[in-house]
Amino acid sequence: MRTVRRKSVPPHFSMCVQPAFIIGTNNEDSSSNFAPITWVSATNEGGDDYLLVVSMFGTKRTKQNVLRTGLLSANLVSRDMLELMDYLGTRHARDGKKDGLTYGVSRGAVLDVPVLDASRWVYECEVAQSVETGASTTFFCRIRNVQMDEGLACEDAFDVDLTRLDPVIYSGMYHSIGTLLGKIGDFS
Ligand SMILES: Cc1cc2nc3c(=O)[nH]c(=O)nc-3n(C[C@H](O)[C@H](O)[C@H](O)COP(=O)(O)O)c2cc1C
Repeated sequence: MRTVRRKSVPPHFSMCVQPAFIIGTNNEDSSSNFAPITWVSATNEGGDDYLLVVSMFGTKRTKQNVLRTGLLSANLVSRDMLELMDYLGTRHARDGKKDGLTYGVSRGAVLDVPVLDASRWVYECEVAQSVETGASTTFFCRIRNVQMDEGLACEDAFDVDLTRLDPVIYSGMYHSIGTLLGKIGDFS
């Protein structure tokens, strides 16, 4: 394997490879709000279930709604949802309803959260714990339900072919993924 010649650069170059989700929340008047959040990861308390880790900066409506209700949906963004994500992420709910694009919204199957009809993979989540770091709040969320595209045939969480989900990956720019390379153990 080749040795990469690297150079040191200032920390503002820090970059994370981020999965793109649109977070659905309930407004105070019971209407729905959606905004992209890509600071999303996972952890495990023990047992088979995961906590979804979702981090939000500032005072955006999405964050206020999660702080107030303790509920959110995380709707995985596939490439065909890119225009919607870009639209929702460049408007603040405090400036008015984000109704410049038409998109289908349903209610969660288990939790009272708004979900996007276009998403192929949806988590319905309840906040278990939150941690403040300066202007950001990180929510550790119990996944109460997963909705997956009926066309996906997955045995378990390690058997999901991302090329079928076609997720958008964010780094400051939008990307898509290309190739299924194999499973753990295939290369050792
Ligand atoms: C691609 C993309 C990714 C984003 N990721 C995050 C994020 O991880 N955390 C965050 O606090 N804001 C993030 N934002 C910003 C919010 O989506 C943006 O502030 C949005 O307008 C908030 O909408 P709201 O007022 O409906 O809550 C992202 C925006 C875009 C376009």
